[in-house]
Amino acid sequence: MGFGRGKVILLGEHAVVHGYPAIAVGIERGVHAEAAPAKRDLLRLEPWDLALEPDPDGREPLERAFSAILGEYEDRPPLEVRATVELPAGAGLGCSAAIGVAVLDAIDEALGRKRPRAELGDAALVWEEVFHGDPSGVDNAMSAVGGVALFVRGMPLRPIHSNKPLCLVVGYSGESSSTKEMVTSVRRQLESDPERVRNTFAAIETLVHNATHAIGAGDLIALGQLLDLNHTLLASLMLCTTKLDAMCRAAREAGALGAKITGAGGGGCMFALAPKRSEAERIREALGSDAFVAEVSA
Ligand code: MEV
Repeated sequence: MGFGRGKVILLGEHAVVHGYPAIAVGIERGVHAEAAPAKRDLLRLEPWDLALEPDPDGREPLERAFSAILGEYEDRPPLEVRATVELPAGAGLGCSAAIGVAVLDAIDEALGRKRPRAELGDAALVWEEVFHGDPSGVDNAMSAVGGVALFVRGMPLRPIHSNKPLCLVVGYSGESSSTKEMVTSVRRQLESDPERVRNTFAAIETLVHNATHAIGAGDLIALGQLLDLNHTLLASLMLCTTKLDAMCRAAREAGALGAKITGAGGGGCMFALAPKRSEAERIREALGSDAFVAEVSA
């Protein structure tokens, strides 16, 4: 069974597109996929009840992305791939990258091909490019490899180790957003006001470096403060919504050490850092019925 996990960016989204570092974690929720020889190439996606044929010029990005992935294999039989998606789409949890990684993983398995997970993540970049135009590569890398890691565009993931697991509570605003549009909006701000946006990216970079130390030292209080600061900086880039802001506040009031939007913003998800597993439930209740707890070992 092929698998691509979802991801939560702890700090550094958007700046990471422009070469700054980010910290992300892989979560257990993701996409499972199976591939088998068939009469023609077909991608089935559940629970959306979609069946798509590959088409490099197709109107549907999924048709183009499937075609891009199949183009990576020479000399293969036609394949039917069935993928089951456990993540909300357009929510900042890396749903599209997880589908790409799971599909590649399933095809590798069907063809008896073995490669390291990091290479699988790199190979899924062609899939991400169809959806996002200019992806940093953090989503596909984390989807394949998981754990807690520092990511810099074009470089291998650097795992961050700690003796304390991170207990995250992920809340979904119900507002979907387009990563491509949010990345374009930040790029426009960078072009029209380079000093302000570069200063913001540099401040985010400092937070990422400090968070690397905080995670390594198991200092969750410091990490929570850094998350709150990163949230404010992302809000200054106009990536937050009233709903997401309210959810972050509610999580802090319910005992979270810090809370921020995650991923592209403009909707989608936020997450909160719980002091420990036993205190995560109260925060989850404050974030609504779609919220879930993700525990990650660093
Ligand atoms: C999307 O999950 C994260 C962004 O930084 C885009 C990217 O890194 O490609 C917004």
